[in-house]
Amino acid sequence: MAHAHGKILLFGEHAVVHGAPAIAAGLGAGVDASVVNGAPGTLTAPAWQLEATAGDGSRVGTAYAALLAELGIEADAAVHLDAAIPAGAGLGSSAAMAVAVARAWLEHLGRDEDEDAVYRAAMASERIFHGNPSGLDHAAAMQGGVVRFVRGEPPAMSSVFVGAPLHLVVAQVAPGADTGVLVGGVATRAERFPVVFGKLFGAFGALSDRAAEAIAAGEVVAVGALMDVNHGLLGAIGVSTPALDEACARARHAGALGAKLTGAGGGGCILALAEPETLDAVDAALQEGGATTLRATLEATP
Ligand code: PMV
Repeated sequence: MAHAHGKILLFGEHAVVHGAPAIAAGLGAGVDASVVNGAPGTLTAPAWQLEATAGDGSRVGTAYAALLAELGIEADAAVHLDAAIPAGAGLGSSAAMAVAVARAWLEHLGRDEDEDAVYRAAMASERIFHGNPSGLDHAAAMQGGVVRFVRGEPPAMSSVFVGAPLHLVVAQVAPGADTGVLVGGVATRAERFPVVFGKLFGAFGALSDRAAEAIAAGEVVAVGALMDVNHGLLGAIGVSTPALDEACARARHAGALGAKLTGAGGGGCILALAEPETLDAVDAALQEGGATTLRATLEATP
């Protein structure tokens, strides 16, 4: 059985597509995949009510066919997925699925666990889902822990030391929007105002690097303040919504140290950081606002 992590995007989403560093975290919970006896090329994930076959014309089937082609594999068996993260909730389900499936096939065929091959296979799959993915989602799905990521061939990935635990509430405020459409919208605005957006992407990069320092130093209050800045920048590039802004305001009002939208925006989730004693109040306030919440703690590096 092969595992991949769910992910939370902490800093720098969108700007990462344009070359800025970003910070993501791989969660303990994720997706397990196994190659099993069954109709060749099928993929089932009961937790997501998902059944697809490579090349069946569905988005998952098309992505799976691209993944197999990248690995040079003719699927002669089925793949079963055990998913412990919800789909479409901003936790990187498509990236975790791709990484787990690629790892399961390499393991099944007795091929070496080749991280470059897994990365490229997941990229082929993510291209079908997202158009122009930076690779950040599946880097976090592969690595776990907190990771700094800069897009490239190959990308630059490094672990970020976590000086003190970060207690987070992830709140789904609205249905997730199409990441490809949101990324395309940012690209269009960046082409229209290249100097302005160049400076904004630079600000995102400075923010990610300062946030990595704060995370390493265990400066939780600073991490929260930088999350608020990140939310403002995401608003500036046009990917927030009134509902996401309102949820962030609600979390801050209930005592959160900071809050930001997480992922592509246009809907989907926010992330709120809180001290352990205010977590319940923040969580309750977000639920009162109509959001579905879950908790995640990023543990201190031992
Ligand atoms: O939609 P999500 O949560 O998978 O976020 C995608 C992250 C972006 O930075 C918006 C796009 C990318 O490819 O990095």
